[in-house]
Amino acid sequence: MSNIAEEINKRRTFAIISHPDAGKTTLTEKFLLYGGAINLAGSVKGKATARHAVSDWMEIEKERGISVTSSVLQFNYGGYCINILDTPGHQDFSEDTYRTLMAADSAVMVIDGAKGVEPQTRKLFKVCGMRGIPIFTFINKMDRDANDTFELLDEIEKELGIATCPVNWPIGCGKSFKGVYDRHKQTVITYSDTEKGTKEGETTVIPISDEAAVEEAVGTERKQVLFDEIELLDGASAEYDLDAIRRGKLTPVFFGSALTNFGVEIFLQYFLQMTTTPLARMSNDELIDPVKNDFSAFVFKIQANMNKAHRDRIAFMRICSGKYEADMDVKHVQSGKVMRLSRPQQIMADERKILDEAYAGDIIGVFDPGIFSIGDTICTPKADIRYEGIPTFAPEHFARVRQIDTMKRKQFVKGITQIAQEGAIQIFQEFNTGMEEIIVGVVGVLQFEVLKYRLENEYNVDIKLEPLPYEHIRWIVSSETELDKIVGTSDMKKIKDLKDRPLLLFINEWSVGMTLDRNKGLELSEFGTA
Ligand code: G4P
Repeated sequence: MSNIAEEINKRRTFAIISHPDAGKTTLTEKFLLYGGAINLAGSVKGKATARHAVSDWMEIEKERGISVTSSVLQFNYGGYCINILDTPGHQDFSEDTYRTLMAADSAVMVIDGAKGVEPQTRKLFKVCGMRGIPIFTFINKMDRDANDTFELLDEIEKELGIATCPVNWPIGCGKSFKGVYDRHKQTVITYSDTEKGTKEGETTVIPISDEAAVEEAVGTERKQVLFDEIELLDGASAEYDLDAIRRGKLTPVFFGSALTNFGVEIFLQYFLQMTTTPLARMSNDELIDPVKNDFSAFVFKIQANMNKAHRDRIAFMRICSGKYEADMDVKHVQSGKVMRLSRPQQIMADERKILDEAYAGDIIGVFDPGIFSIGDTICTPKADIRYEGIPTFAPEHFARVRQIDTMKRKQFVKGITQIAQEGAIQIFQEFNTGMEEIIVGVVGVLQFEVLKYRLENEYNVDIKLEPLPYEHIRWIVSSETELDKIVGTSDMKKIKDLKDRPLLLFINEWSVGMTLDRNKGLELSEFGTA
């Protein structure tokens, strides 16, 4: 096997999703600990203290204790090269999560054992389902009192509509948490409350057939419950089926406690075996094999001002095939330009490392002089690859933006346009005027706050946002009637996007239907194309 094939085949690229506070950051930090990427897990984390997670770099994230943007972490473990894509936990940023999932080959969903499926798990999961990638479930915080295990599984199946297959099974929880039973290896692994932040913990592995030793380790009562549960489980739960897992139809479930570091390595080891190598991707009706093709990548995220001192704009790309080497010429397919990627780097929170090479499965960040858009393809000049675009979500909240100091017009327009190019917000104009009146649309209301904060902090511009009552947006695909003559409902508003394409805003769904009825040949779409 060539060196390139070997490098690609050892890559595992996954996103990690959860409702805020379920333990995503703690789990990520423990993964890194196993990879030797950090020495003491505590250095990564601590919202309540002054320490901050490596992946939480933006000021607003620190202040609010939420993850607004996603970042990428890479480490080696057990012969694998692992890329973790962190995602914002809050549902208001689910569009960002969706884009990140486009760059991942599988997803790890972290659930708090005491809370079960939470509202944002539901929304994020839906987004995951749209992608159809394998989903692995880690039920966390078993060192605390947790819900009944069967009920937790039932909830995942009912609420998220995916069959579950427990790979291990918890023995007790909270103060009486004794460890897990590994169904595959048929062993009991006992829990030891390891020193927080370190990976050395003493666990004992006992074959389930050694009943006396199991009883001694977990107690008579717990042992009996475990044996009963195993029997029940073997009869009731879905069978392990790797093919169904890889199609996203069955989720393997693991239990553990990220904080005390129990069950994390067991999870990691199984996960790495079950998840896939970098997947082939669709381009112009053809699947592009990661190994057989030369370098190609697509942009899934753009982020300005990641480093305030440098005021730069970074385009994040997922490499889909082949190898990237420093100084190679590449083609930006959308513009047809052949160029050299400027100082590609691996970005780990605040730290950046210039890369000499990277392979399919890896994420690289390159300086963007303003030519890349989300969804763009980059490939070797002779190749003809155009990856499928990334759809944008229809905004559901709208506001008029008023600039407080009108003298700073230039900064304002620059700031709001740049933030819109990142895809966090969408901007529109009144139908008959230019940039003087800007209407901003967002998927989640928290994005308004992020916009205001970023304009103030990164562009030194104060704004006022006046909420508008519209909730439904439609692009006009075709119309037999002239735009001015479209007969709408009284709650309809005409606007245009930055490419001067007309759009309609409505307060309620009913008005959308009414407007369609009243205008013959009118065709509307919920999605705009880039
Ligand atoms: P998130 O990224 O999903 O938002 O969650 P995060 O890891 O930040 O964890 C949220 C809180 O839950 C943290 O407590 C963390 O220490 C705690 N936690 C994570 N995993 C476990 C676990 O397995 N068991 C228990 N008992 N707690 C867990 P915090 O008080 O908000 O922060 P900190 O002061 O501990 O840093």
